[in-house]
Order: sequence, then C-alpha cells, then structure tokens
Amino acid sequence: MADGAEVRLRPVVESDLGMFRRLLTEPFLIGLDWSGFEDAQRPARRFAQDGYLGEQDGRLIPEVRGQVCGLLSYRRGLYGGTATYWEIGIVLLPEWRGRGIGWRAQALLSDYLFSHSPVQRIQAGTHAENTAEQKSLVKAGFQLEGVVRACEFRAGAWRDGYLYSRLRDDPAPVVTPLPDQPAS
Ligand SMILES: CC(C)(COP(=O)(O)OP(=O)(O)OC[C@H]1O[C@@H](n2cnc3c(N)ncnc32)[C@H](O)[C@@H]1OP(=O)(O)O)[C@@H](O)C(=O)NCCC(=O)NCCS
Repeated sequence: MADGAEVRLRPVVESDLGMFRRLLTEPFLIGLDWSGFEDAQRPARRFAQDGYLGEQDGRLIPEVRGQVCGLLSYRRGLYGGTATYWEIGIVLLPEWRGRGIGWRAQALLSDYLFSHSPVQRIQAGTHAENTAEQKSLVKAGFQLEGVVRACEFRAGAWRDGYLYSRLRDDPAPVVTPLPDQPAS
C-alpha cells in the first residue's frame, strides 16, 4: 500500500457476494461475531432485491486502491417511537486489519449517513474483549455510553456489549490518507 492511499466506500457489486458467503460459512473469519453457519444463498437473494441499499438497512464496501477490504453495515433503529437512528457494524478481512482502515471506514460511513439522512444519532456495539473495535470507534468520533448487560448470546453464553454513539454535532475526526505501509 503506497503513501497517500485513501479508504473509499462504494455500494455492493455482484463480485462482493463471494466474500459475503465466506463470512457466513467460514468459522472465525468474521472474528468475535461468528454465530454459526448461515444460509450462503441469502446474499445473492438480498443483492437481487435491492443491491443492499435498503431503507431500513444496507451495506457498503470499504476499498483501498480498488481492493476490497471487508464490509460495513447499517441498520435503522427507533427510540421513543419517533427518534430514528442508525446502528453500524464492520468486518475487515484479516489481511486488512490493524492498518488504520477500520476507524477511517467507520468515520466515512458516519459522515455518509449524517449527510444523507436526518438522524441525530449513530450507534455501534462491540464486545468487552474487542479492544481493536473499541479504539477504532473512538478514533471514528464515537463515545462510550455504557455496558448493555447480557445483550447477546455468543460462543455458548450470554455476554455483555459495549454501546458507543456519535451524535450529529459531536466533533468529526479528520479522515487522513493511510500512512505508508508495506505493499500488500
Ligand atoms: C475491529 C476492526 C474493525 C478494527 O479495524 P482495524 O483497521 O483493524 O483497526 P484500526 O486501524 O482502526 O485501529 C484502531 C486502533 O486499534 C488498535 N488496534 C488494532 N488492532 C488491534 C488489536 N488486535 N488489539 C489491540 N488494538 C488494536 C490500533 O493500534 C489503533 O489504535 P492506535 O491508534 O492507538 O494505534 C477490525 O480489526 C476487524 O474487522 N476485526 C474483525 C471484525 C470485528 O471485530 N468487527 C467489529 C465487531 S463489533
């Protein structure tokens, strides 16, 4: 990866579906969020339906110099009957982790969602042991709100989640180009 490379987001295209299938069928590729084998045909059905650009949820692809790094997700939620918000998620393929792409991609997705929808709030959850995602969210402009107790069943047990948020008027980080790194 050469100096000055930027993280860019784009919609899903058909050639991304192989990666989506891998994430549903290869244990541990997804990281801590692995929740068992899932229907590998689902991504193709969803892509045919709306290209993963739905009103309630969607996905975008983070790229560096045209290379696919993983996926970003967003899902609409509702507080108090009227206050809609987005919950975002991210998975980078293992070879793209630890290079500064995660926080940049999540900052860019937040900017995109604030630009194209009137929500006041974007939230993200992660695990107590996921130090990389906790740091990545803070660098993307998110703040820790608290611990949501026993909110997910994962790896044989009910586990706590850490809830983060970024509000529309919170300071947005400057998304700089990636630092110089060895060629991938
Ligand atoms: C979590 C994830 C998105 C983070 O993205 P990333 O590009 O790897 O991390 P970033 O480059 O944004 O790093 C952010 C910070 O975390 C640190 N970090 C990165 N990997 C780390 C690790 N394995 N352990 C501890 N800290 C780590 C970085 O050093 C950086 O901190 P610094 O600025 O103090 O140096 C990515 O690793 C990933 O996709 N993991 C698997 C899927 C996953 O866990 N998704 C989130 C589910 S909630």
